[in-house]
Amino acid sequence: MAGLPRAALNYLERELELGLEAIPLRAPGMREQGRPGVDSSLVEPAIRQAADLDVLREVLGDCRRCKLCSDRSNIVFGVGNPDAGLMFVGEGPGEEEDKQGVPFVGRAGALLTDIITKGMGLRREDVYIANVVKCRPPGNRNPQPDEIVACEPFLARQIEIIEPKVLVSLGTFATQALLKNRIAISKQRGVWSDYNGVPLMPTFHPAYLLRNPSGKRIVWGDIKLVMQKMGISPLARR
Ligand code: URA
Repeated sequence: MAGLPRAALNYLERELELGLEAIPLRAPGMREQGRPGVDSSLVEPAIRQAADLDVLREVLGDCRRCKLCSDRSNIVFGVGNPDAGLMFVGEGPGEEEDKQGVPFVGRAGALLTDIITKGMGLRREDVYIANVVKCRPPGNRNPQPDEIVACEPFLARQIEIIEPKVLVSLGTFATQALLKNRIAISKQRGVWSDYNGVPLMPTFHPAYLLRNPSGKRIVWGDIKLVMQKMGISPLARR
């Protein structure tokens, strides 16, 4: 497999871990170029052509592309600096996010804000925060595959537009959706991966940390790797 691009190698290594025995010419969910991501032939041209986040938000409109539209109060598109070097990707809005239309503003959000501000010494406005699905799954259930597939082109385009230097995926769903695998977060966290050329660090979801505070030390270790990669000095922390 020598000579293959890193992203393709990562993909194949994961498939082998999952028991792949033969290499399909084009695996489901892979782009024609062989990169993990959204099959561009299936993406609405308006999404691919959206030049900035405002245009992309307009394309999303009053979205009815999946069944999550029926219970939501607000679409939670994303928040932060459109030129951010660092982008966090969560799972989907909870109750508070659905009310306010802003990601990570509930209890888990307060913890993420602490990680960004107290931990990294950045401001929330310095980074960009988005979710895999933009509408709240009823009762905070897990997002379902059809919902993730419907929303994925918007997340993919957000990442293309923002061009972050580093991505941090929070929890199982964000990590598995971005890396197109089914590997447990406990096995992928803390290890650099690659999303279409962008270094991606998977870590535990802040909601998990609310239930398992002992995981905070582990997440802090992952975040220190992110700071190192971005050249953020721990001494500069506020
Ligand atoms: N959990 C998430 O994954 N995203 C949010 O926006 C809030 C909680």
